[in-house]
Amino acid sequence: MRQRTFTMLKPDAFKRRLSGKILARFEERGLKIVAIKTMIISEDLAKQHYGEHSDKPFFNDLVEYITSGPVLAMVIEADDVISQIRKMVGATNPKEADIGTIRGDFALETGRNIIHASDSEESAAREIGLFFNESEICEYTLPDEDLIYE
Ligand code: RTP
Ligand code: MG
Repeated sequence: MRQRTFTMLKPDAFKRRLSGKILARFEERGLKIVAIKTMIISEDLAKQHYGEHSDKPFFNDLVEYITSGPVLAMVIEADDVISQIRKMVGATNPKEADIGTIRGDFALETGRNIIHASDSEESAAREIGLFFNESEICEYTLPDEDLIYE
């Protein structure tokens, strides 16, 4: 089923100049980036985005982390993209993430786990709406879609 998801390279990924390597993984797999931008997230947006964690002990550190520099926010479209990107991202704790996943290959600590990805259709719709206007999302066809999809 064709889906959209919200993915965000966190400030540590951006500052460590890992954006190109991570984007290449999505591109090489055939996923379609339909919106992308850099921004420094406001404290208010960070608290909304991670609202489900507002009562957790790590919430303040999480808000501080995610607002500590530029992020690369994006909307990606593909078949079953929500679960596929979560698999590519790997476990929340990078020490437990499989080698070959983004966190398993590029990160070591939960509090510096370099990338966010929506975990359900509901969170994808909510997060895309928080970060992007409909006019920022590009509708287009990849020239090799008939090679990627049967
Ligand atoms: P994300 O939302 O960023 O994609 O990460 P996730 O689904 O894998 O993990 P989630 O449970 O939603 O946690 C959100 C982010 O909060 C930080 N965290 N710290 N110190 C801790 O125990 C702890 N647990 C979570 C991480 O940055 C995690 O990605
Ligand atoms: Mg999460």
